[in-house]
Amino acid sequence: MASVSVPTSLDGAKALDCADSLAALRAAFHLPGDLIYLDGHSLGAATHGALARIDDAAKREWAGGLIGSWNDAGWIDLPNQTGARLARLIGAAPEDVIVCDSVSVNVFKLAAAALPLAKNTRVLIVEEDEFPTDQYIVEGLSALADVKFMRAPAGEGLAALRERGGVLVKSAVNYRTAALADMAAHERAAADCGGVVIWDLSHAAGVIDLDLNACGARLATGCTYKYLNGGPGAPAYIYVRDDVAASVRSPIAGWFGHAAPFAFDAAYAPKEKAARFAAGTPPVLSLSALAGALDVFDQIDMAGAAKKTRALGDLCLARCEALGLPSPSPAIGEMRGGHICILHDNGYAIVQALAAAGVIADFRAPDAIRFGFSALYTRYQDVWRAMDELERIVKTASWDAPGFKKKNAVT
Ligand SMILES: Cc1ncc(COP(=O)(O)O)c(C=O)c1O
Repeated sequence: MASVSVPTSLDGAKALDCADSLAALRAAFHLPGDLIYLDGHSLGAATHGALARIDDAAKREWAGGLIGSWNDAGWIDLPNQTGARLARLIGAAPEDVIVCDSVSVNVFKLAAAALPLAKNTRVLIVEEDEFPTDQYIVEGLSALADVKFMRAPAGEGLAALRERGGVLVKSAVNYRTAALADMAAHERAAADCGGVVIWDLSHAAGVIDLDLNACGARLATGCTYKYLNGGPGAPAYIYVRDDVAASVRSPIAGWFGHAAPFAFDAAYAPKEKAARFAAGTPPVLSLSALAGALDVFDQIDMAGAAKKTRALGDLCLARCEALGLPSPSPAIGEMRGGHICILHDNGYAIVQALAAAGVIADFRAPDAIRFGFSALYTRYQDVWRAMDELERIVKTASWDAPGFKKKNAVT
């Protein structure tokens, strides 16, 4: 164990909550009753601001303002404006980020757009432990574009890129383990070999202190429904660094990426900068919720938030270690994303037993239990209490009941 001090009692955890400079932000969230919600890595909690904003967008802007709201309520500018606010959280320039589509669609658009940028080799690379949608999209695109596809062993995407060049799609934080990629090392390798890295920031934005500019990232996407609390199915975003924007074209040349969508020209002319990656009509209600959720982020410094998230994870890991539960997540004191993964053959049933006890975590087949922490609303005492429940469930094997083994569609 690294020399990091973690609380050893509920009182110790409560003392950390009292001293926490971010503690007041919890009041901005709608958190149901006594539930301990440790699933913000899957779906972030709702903020009161997001709920109010979506209500206003629906009732006043849509029902009241109807079509006029595209101009009067500024709907048309929401993808850019929301992207610009999000940019600060990922270390990007405001005009380099646009909110649009889903991560799956954006990975496709960016990977296709990056192919002409990759010098020498036309190969699409993805690691075998990458989030499945990224693997499926990259493999599908390789067939469509008639480009070689390589599924590299876990952790070996960088070596594959160095060796062959091409386009690598890579998560900044692994969805299963929460391990961080060395983004700068990947970008250096890409610069040396003429390759391109497309970053999936889904488990990184709003939780770690990302600095896309400093690490030399050129292209990225990520979701907003996890740590950015944009709501279920909230739109994703695309980052395109200013100096590459003019050289890349979206393969989905929709009218919202057109320089003058309401000129209704037959010929396609892309917008400047990241905005050229927009495709169709933006989902205004979801975007409004995201815009409301970002109000909380306007008040925080990501470095401080990331430090707290890590400390919450350290506490979880210390308790899991004491229970003898193995974890593939980076160890106590190490840098990592916002969740801790532990492995157990009966992980699914344990997650159901936890839910029955008021602790929400999630399960990823075949054996991973994930506990996610948000610096904005998770308290140290929540982690302590959740781990008390985990201890009880594991020690008494109370998970071993038929009701906890019935598989739901979403795990
Ligand atoms: C790393 C990563 N990429 C992509 C996705 C999902 O993409 P989409 O928003 O298209 O469903 C997830 C969802 O959890 C994810 O964790």
